Amino acid sequence: MPEFIPVLKKDDIDKMVVAVARKISSDYKDRELILIGVLKGSFVFLSDLIRNLSIPVKVDFVGVSSYSDKTSSSGKIQLTKSIEIDIKNKNVLVVEDIVDSGLTLAWLIDYLMSFKPETVNVCAMIDKSERRETQIQIDYTCHTVKEGFLVGYGLDYAEDYRNLPEIYHLKL
Ligand code: IMP
Ligand code: MG
Repeated sequence: MPEFIPVLKKDDIDKMVVAVARKISSDYKDRELILIGVLKGSFVFLSDLIRNLSIPVKVDFVGVSSYSDKTSSSGKIQLTKSIEIDIKNKNVLVVEDIVDSGLTLAWLIDYLMSFKPETVNVCAMIDKSERRETQIQIDYTCHTVKEGFLVGYGLDYAEDYRNLPEIYHLKL
């Protein structure tokens, strides 16, 4: 049986989301902002984040996949859904669930830059540092962990557990 070790409780998550939303609202005050959620993992975080922002925003999604049913990145990124909003000359904030090797984000930033946005910044719910393979800047983050495979609050293992309201370290 897999073991679920609690990492972040609902209350912790709520406070972190409020704090990061406040910072984003202040940094982007009077600037047009487009949030781009990375499917599928970011959808829970993104939905809480946007409801805590005090500035107007547009929301779009991009789909990428790099993990099949394993717990480490294949490094081969596939675009499964392109963006729909025109981001040329706009301020873009990529919203990710978790950054691990960083390969997905590095690929995604290149992809988004090809549309010539004004700025591209990154907000990741969780920064998992140990397996980072490429240097990328994460501008906003809620929580940092060194290692471990996390599930819940949008994060999956082989498409399971996204619906759990709290975040757990999954021990298989
Ligand atoms: P990276 O390319 O290695 O940075 O992996 C990024 C993507 O892999 C994330 O956006 C997640 O969708 C997935 N991922 C990485 N670590 C975890 C984890 O601990 N739990 C669930 N998904 C993860
Ligand atoms: Mg993701």
